[in-house]
Amino acid sequence: MLLQIPIKPIPILEILVNKNIRLFIKREDLIHPQISGNKYWKLFYNINNYLESQPEKPLIITFGGAYSNHISSVSTVGNLAGIQTLGIIRGEELEKKWKDNPTLVAAKRNGMNLKFVSREEYRNKEKLTEFLRQEFPDSLIIPEGGTNENAVQGIKMMLNNDTKDFDYLCTAVGTGGTIAGISMFCEENQTVVGFNVVEDSSLEHRILELTSRRNFHLTDAAFGGYGKINDENIRFINDFKTKHKIPLDPVYTGKMMQKIFEMIDADYFPEGSKILCFHTGGLQGIEGANAFLEKQNRNLII
Ligand SMILES: Cc1ncc(COP(=O)(O)O)c(C=O)c1O
Repeated sequence: MLLQIPIKPIPILEILVNKNIRLFIKREDLIHPQISGNKYWKLFYNINNYLESQPEKPLIITFGGAYSNHISSVSTVGNLAGIQTLGIIRGEELEKKWKDNPTLVAAKRNGMNLKFVSREEYRNKEKLTEFLRQEFPDSLIIPEGGTNENAVQGIKMMLNNDTKDFDYLCTAVGTGGTIAGISMFCEENQTVVGFNVVEDSSLEHRILELTSRRNFHLTDAAFGGYGKINDENIRFINDFKTKHKIPLDPVYTGKMMQKIFEMIDADYFPEGSKILCFHTGGLQGIEGANAFLEKQNRNLII
């Protein structure tokens, strides 16, 4: 593989020494500031396969919420590769307010056309997709979060010789494509732990549609719901950055990391365990989160 992603140990912390746990983080976030972490790999085959089919007027259509990392990544790919992109955005109220949202401003700047739809229309994505397929028959329609079978194949590339020597592989979970790929392609003796940031009872079932292995556990890390930011987690993220010089985002990786430390404290991982966390990026979301926190006079993410 062309990209060499560093694996960085979390240095000696008292809690890790006392429990004899070794904790490492794989910096997929360093791939690219916008197309970072798992997004890069989930889009890899989706977009390359589409371009190989040599569409006459390439168009990529996808779905996302107001602060979506996936929307940010797809718009950036479109900009870099000179491909037209269309983002279907959840929430028609955003049509008047998109200028207050750094993710949507950046997507527009990348040349993405935005179509705002009501939450109800958005929920009925099959109908919407069918309509888009008829309207734009040559387009590539990528599901929300980029999750599909091509994405799962792409995630395989997050695993290599360097990741084989770990007992636990940890990732944040949204739509489930990333954990499905890790589960599908990791070593037999490895356990995958998914930190679910969305409260969604159908998630496990959807992951099992994408992986044939039951080698993963899902752990709740929603901290009050998807996209909810709590002050304790902000303190954790800021502390982590100061100590380890590694930025975390408040929707996925910050929650995963805080939860891992809580689980180490609660002896979830047996003594002697070697744990690898995937830093799946999402740092573009910090600006939007800070704009929101500032309005509420709360502490910001540094
Ligand atoms: C930063 C970050 N981490 C984790 C995830 C979860 O990935 P998935 O939707 O494949 O479960 C996402 C969503 O793509 C994300 O943006």
